[in-house]
Amino acid sequence: MNDIFERELTKETVFKDRNVISPHHIPDNLPHREKEIEKIMKVLAPSLSNKTSKNLFLYGKTGTGKTSVAKHVLSRLIQVKDKYKVTVDAVHVNCRIQNTKYQVLLKMVEYCYPEQEFIGYPFAHLHDKLIKYIDKTKTNFIVMLDEVDKNGNLDDLLYTLTRINDEVQNGQLILIGITNDVSFKDRLDPRSKSTLCEEEMVFPPYNADELKEIIEQRIKTGFKEDAVSKSAINLAAAMSAQESGDARRALILMQKAGDVADDEESKKVTDNHVKIARESVEEEIVYETIKTLPEHQKILLYGIAQLTSNTGHYEKLDGSIDKKTLMSGQVYERYESLCKSRGKEPKTARWCREYIHDLDMLGLVTTNISGKGVRGNTTLIKLAYPEDKVKKVLEEHFT
Ligand SMILES: Nc1ncnc2c1ncn2[C@@H]1O[C@H](COP(=O)(O)OP(=O)(O)OP(=O)(O)O)[C@@H](O)[C@H]1O
Ligand SMILES: [Mg+2]
Repeated sequence: MNDIFERELTKETVFKDRNVISPHHIPDNLPHREKEIEKIMKVLAPSLSNKTSKNLFLYGKTGTGKTSVAKHVLSRLIQVKDKYKVTVDAVHVNCRIQNTKYQVLLKMVEYCYPEQEFIGYPFAHLHDKLIKYIDKTKTNFIVMLDEVDKNGNLDDLLYTLTRINDEVQNGQLILIGITNDVSFKDRLDPRSKSTLCEEEMVFPPYNADELKEIIEQRIKTGFKEDAVSKSAINLAAAMSAQESGDARRALILMQKAGDVADDEESKKVTDNHVKIARESVEEEIVYETIKTLPEHQKILLYGIAQLTSNTGHYEKLDGSIDKKTLMSGQVYERYESLCKSRGKEPKTARWCREYIHDLDMLGLVTTNISGKGVRGNTTLIKLAYPEDKVKKVLEEHFT
């Protein structure tokens, strides 16, 4: 048995440093985001002379570099602040984790007073502490609200944070909101919108050439010399660009392709390894996403998968029938009956529309509004993955 350990440890590998290929790694240099970096630097530059800086809103699809770019700019700002003799602080808040006003403030206050313990203190105390800190240290305090759409009560949070600016004599709070929900801005309360979107930027998906360069940059340090064929890189870039323009996904694909090559004891990553890797990447992403859905979204998706495999039909205006396209009404009915059979109270139809929007955002379904006229406006829903696979994953992960 020990031979297995021995063999694993001494196995030949195509990687020089596998971690570099991981999407968790943020390189010092971000190709094809120079324009975005420059624009954010311009927006934040006034803080280096203690002048009022505008809040900033960044949006764009997943894996387009929003988080990496924002972190990159903030670290450059922190590096130069001493030269300008100003205080600049920056904290990264992930609203998926810090999803209440209290938790956001707690994270900020903990950053200001790293020696002290604040858990359990009332909100007003944290608020007070934060104001005192900003005032006293005259800090330009930048708060990066990442995945801001996940915050439970954003209007309230934004109100609280912007009020702090009215209460301090010195220093300021600057907000950077980030989301991959491209329609989120339009759903914001008008006041929140004008607060957060003083400046805004869209991050477009990467095209194949851009992804190629991003991959190549990582390959230099992550893989051994000549371990990846040119055509494998081209293929991975082209596939990822066509699917989503998502750099994270392109990198996961390359990492997996390297693993496949290692498993086959090949010295070089080829097109074929990329193709094999793609299937497992796809599966893994879908699987992970479905597994972590909230209960009611699971039920809804299950209903969609069931309908797709039997009764789903949508008669097109030309009379042809698309068997896999569903209408929102029929989906809601199925969802209601599934809730009942599971002993759950169904949510309202309005909630259901929101859920469908979320499933669309996650890429699990695609939605379209049917043309006006014949049937009025109804949302048409189509499952993005094979129904049998979706059902199977859900059956394994219902609570
Ligand atoms: N221009 C780039 N150059 C090099 N690597 C990049 C670039 N853009 C993205 N990446 C890589 O892709 C990963 C994902 O990017 P990032 O987390 O910034 O995306 P995001 O837009 O914040 O996505 P999400 O909306 O899912 O949070 C990064 O960790 C980094 O490894
Ligand atoms: Mg991000």
